[in-house]
Amino acid sequence: MNMITLEKVSFLFENTKLEIMDSISFVARKGEFVCIVGPSGCGKSTLLRIIAGLIPPSSGRVLFANHEITEPNRKISFVFQDFALLPWLTNVENVKIGLSRSDISDEAKDKKASELLDRFGLSGFEDYYPNALSGGMKQRVGIARSVASDPQVLLMDEPFSSLDELTATSLRSDIVYMLENKNISVNSVIMVTHNVEEAVELADKVIVLSDKPSHVKKIINISGERPRDKRSGQFAAYMDEIYAALAKDIEQ
Ligand SMILES: Nc1ncnc2c1ncn2[C@@H]1O[C@H](COP(=O)(O)OP(=O)(O)OP(=O)(O)O)[C@@H](O)[C@H]1O
Ligand SMILES: [Mg+2]
Repeated sequence: MNMITLEKVSFLFENTKLEIMDSISFVARKGEFVCIVGPSGCGKSTLLRIIAGLIPPSSGRVLFANHEITEPNRKISFVFQDFALLPWLTNVENVKIGLSRSDISDEAKDKKASELLDRFGLSGFEDYYPNALSGGMKQRVGIARSVASDPQVLLMDEPFSSLDELTATSLRSDIVYMLENKNISVNSVIMVTHNVEEAVELADKVIVLSDKPSHVKKIINISGERPRDKRSGQFAAYMDEIYAALAKDIEQ
C-alpha cells in the first residue's frame, strides 16, 4: 500500500521565481523508511513541507493513501532538526501541542503526554522546561510531540544532525522500533539527511536529488534487516553508490 505518493511535484517560489524542484515523483509504501539526500539548498526541506500540506506544489500532486494532500493532516507529523519546542511551556505541555487537534479531555491529554514522555525515557521531566534538557532529550520531547497524534507518516528534517553520535544512535533505533512495531501507528518514515551512512543504516529506499531545480537522480533500494552491519562490503557498496550519484551532480 502506498502511504505517500509524489506525482511530478514541481515548485517555484512566487516571490523570487526561483525554480526549486522539477517534476519529483516517488512513493513511500507502508512499512518503508525513505531517506532523501541531495545538495544543500536543493529543496529538501521545502519538499517535506509540501508533503506535510503546509505549502502547495506549483504543479503535480501529493497523495496520502489515495487522497490528495491540500492541508496539514494529523496523520502526517513533522520532526524538526532544531526540535522546535516552545521554551515557555513545560515538556508535558509541549507534547500536548501534538494533541491539540484531538477531541479527548484535557485530563486525558495530560495522561497521554506523560505516557509518551515516559516511553521516550523522560519520566520525571514532565514539569521541567526544555532549556533544562540536553539536545538529545529535547529531541525526544520533539519526537513524543510528533507521535502524540498517532501519525501514520513521520516526516523528519535532519532530526539527528545536531546530536552527538551516541544519542543519535539511540534515537535512530527508537524510530526504527516505532516503524517496525505493529502496535505503534507510525508505518512510514520520510527523512531528509546529509549523512550517507545514516541513510544506508536506516533506509529501505534512498532518493538522491540533484541540485536545484532538483529532480530525482537515482532511487537506491537498500536490502537487509536492521540493524545493519556497517563494516560489511555490501554496506560500503551502498554508500559508494549514493556518493557516486551525488558527486555526478557536482561535476556537471
Ligand atoms: N521563503 C522562501 N522564499 C524564497 N526562496 C526560498 C524560501 N525558502 C527557501 N528558499 C530557497 O529555496 C531553496 C531550497 O531551500 P530548502 O531549505 O528547501 O533547501 P534544503 O535542500 O533543505 O537545504 P539544506 O540542505 O541547506 O537544508 C534555497 O535555495 C533557498 O534559498
Ligand atoms: Mg533543509
